[in-house]
Amino acid sequence: MIKVMSIFGTRPEAIKMCPLVKALEADGDIDSIVAVTAQHREMLDSALDYFGVRPKYDLNIMKRGQTLSTITADVILGLEELLKNERPDLVLVHGDTTTSFAAALSAFYAKCAVGHVEAGLRTYDKYSPYPEEMNRCLTSRIAELHFAPTEHSRENLAAEGIMRGVYVTGNTALDAFKYTVKPDWKFDDKRLSSLDFEHYRVITVTAHRRENQSGGIENVCRAILELAERHPELLFVYPVHLSPAVREPVFRLLDSHERIILTDPVDVADMHNLLSRSYFILTDSGGIQEEAPSFGKPVLVLRSETERPEAVEAGTVKVIGTDTARVVAEAERLLCDKDEYRRMSEAKNPYGDGHASERIIAAIKEYFAAN
Ligand code: UD1
Ligand code: UDP
Repeated sequence: MIKVMSIFGTRPEAIKMCPLVKALEADGDIDSIVAVTAQHREMLDSALDYFGVRPKYDLNIMKRGQTLSTITADVILGLEELLKNERPDLVLVHGDTTTSFAAALSAFYAKCAVGHVEAGLRTYDKYSPYPEEMNRCLTSRIAELHFAPTEHSRENLAAEGIMRGVYVTGNTALDAFKYTVKPDWKFDDKRLSSLDFEHYRVITVTAHRRENQSGGIENVCRAILELAERHPELLFVYPVHLSPAVREPVFRLLDSHERIILTDPVDVADMHNLLSRSYFILTDSGGIQEEAPSFGKPVLVLRSETERPEAVEAGTVKVIGTDTARVVAEAERLLCDKDEYRRMSEAKNPYGDGHASERIIAAIKEYFAAN
């Protein structure tokens, strides 16, 4: 048996790791253990509950006002004993959060092999996204196995001299759809279940990134207000991240408009089915850029760059930043220019076919058969 410990802590890691954990648990050659840091609490638990994944360990580190240093220190201290006792053959981490990097570093200290799921994404700007670009670069230095979602991410790793142990697998984000996306889905969230998709064009919004917390989110809120005023056919739905740095500006600026619905974060199935029914999406999320191409929904990315150029090449994603006038102009282009909308709403997803977990497990077995 290969003992695999999956360690994760935030919402996007959970959504993309749970389908893999389910596949690991179902594999007779693998002893699968889950440890969560709970860098996020409610948003993590929502995903764990939805997928029915029960962690063996829970570091429960989340604090209001946590900083990059406190998250890093708490993860490393919390994992030390646990890794010493469990001695997994392989630690799996995901993506680019501070949990991912700190867990990879802890595994290295414990001399456990590390597998990096969603490896090789890069912007080559160490402050954007911050701290994610550095987290993923450092995790690549530590990992033995690199599960690159695309050929492009494999090439990024190769350009850094990382050629061994690299597998192109697709992104496990798409594996999650088989648990979540249903044509006859009934929304769990009351506000979502009463949305009138027939009469309104529903625009889904999310924004939370640290780079956008010093003005960007406010600019986007002003753009949403302007669009809502100018277009009575629009209904905005914004599930607001639980970070106080996000909630304060969003509720201050948007709480009183009847066609701007602010909700708490919704569970993953509600979110995927909301994306699939939206007219287009305004977001700074990484994961949503990977998900939306499957639904053929245009995504306007509220950032200055993206580490997901495949979705831009596929035509679904456009990077527009957070300048209020630009957000309004790009949204209006999608509303008024049928050709532009059609060009961006073709459903083809460059991030895989929903079978990334199987490829990752095959690669793990190949690695342990040879080592
Ligand atoms: C983190 C990740 C980011 C990822 C994002 C996904 C880091 C440094 N950042 O950013 O890469 O894109 O998650 O959402 O790893 N909070 C709650 N309940 C929750 C979750 C968060 O109350 O379930 C509040 C807490 O007050 C917490 C704050 O949000 O202190 C910020 O959480 P944190 O994980 O530090 O930053 P995110 O912006 O969520
Ligand atoms: N998501 C969700 N509920 C919400 C908002 C987002 O389930 O209220 C999902 C979304 O579909 C995607 C993931 O959360 O799978 C993205 O997480 P987030 O934007 O927080 O992080 P990022 O991907 O930017 O790191």
